[in-house]
Amino acid sequence: MSALKILVIPGSLRTGSLNAKLAAAAVDELVRADVDVIKLSLGDFPLPIYDGDLETKSGVPKHAVNLKRMMSAHHGVLIVTPEYNSSLPPLVKNAIDWVSRVQDSHESKGQVFRERPFAIAAASNGRLGGTRCLQALRLVLSACRATVIPNQLALSFASEAYDEMDRLKHAADIEALQAMVRQLIDVAQQMK
Ligand SMILES: Cc1cc2nc3c(=O)[nH]c(=O)nc-3n(C[C@H](O)[C@H](O)[C@H](O)COP(=O)(O)O)c2cc1C
Repeated sequence: MSALKILVIPGSLRTGSLNAKLAAAAVDELVRADVDVIKLSLGDFPLPIYDGDLETKSGVPKHAVNLKRMMSAHHGVLIVTPEYNSSLPPLVKNAIDWVSRVQDSHESKGQVFRERPFAIAAASNGRLGGTRCLQALRLVLSACRATVIPNQLALSFASEAYDEMDRLKHAADIEALQAMVRQLIDVAQQMK
C-alpha cells in the first residue's frame, strides 16, 4: 500500500512566524505517524490579487496551477494560518481563490477541494488563538465543498507556547495537535 501523503501550508511568510513553527510541529507529528509530508512556502507561489479581468486576459497564473497540483498530489492538506482582523490573511484567501479557479484536464473547477480532507490550525498571541480566523477559513473551504475535519487547533498565547527548540511545551497543546493529526490521517485514509 502506498504511503499517505499530506501537504502542510503555513499561512505566514514572516521570519519567526508563530504559525510556521506550529506547521513545523505538525510536520514532526506527521513524520512520527509514518506519513510522507511536504511543507511548502506560499512565497514559492507568488500570486497577484485575484482579478477577473486578469484571468480573462491571461488565464489562471501558473503558480496557482502549480499550487493546485501540489495539493492534488497529496491525500490531505493542513493549513496553519495567522488571524488578521478576526479573519484569514489575504495570502491564504487569495491562494484559495486562485486555486478554486484552476481547471486541469479531465477535472472540474475546484475538484481538488472535494477529493481530500483539510485540517486547519492557527497560532496567535491572543487568548482565542485565532479561533475566529478558523471559523472564517472553515466557511471558505466549505464553500469550496471541502471536507474540513472537526478537530482543529487554535494555539493561544503562542509566543509562550514553544520551547527553545520550537517544540510545543504544553501538554494540552501537544494533545490537541496529535488529535487533529490523527483525525486528518484517518479521514485521508478513508478518502484515498
Ligand atoms: C493586520 C493584522 C491583523 C491582526 N489581527 C489579529 C486578530 O484579529 N487576532 C489575533 O489574534 N491576532 C491578530 N494579529 C496578530 C497576529 O496574530 C500576529 O502578528 C501573529 O504573530 C501573526 O502570525 P505569524 O507569527 O505566523 O506571522 C494581527 C496582525 C496583523 C498584522
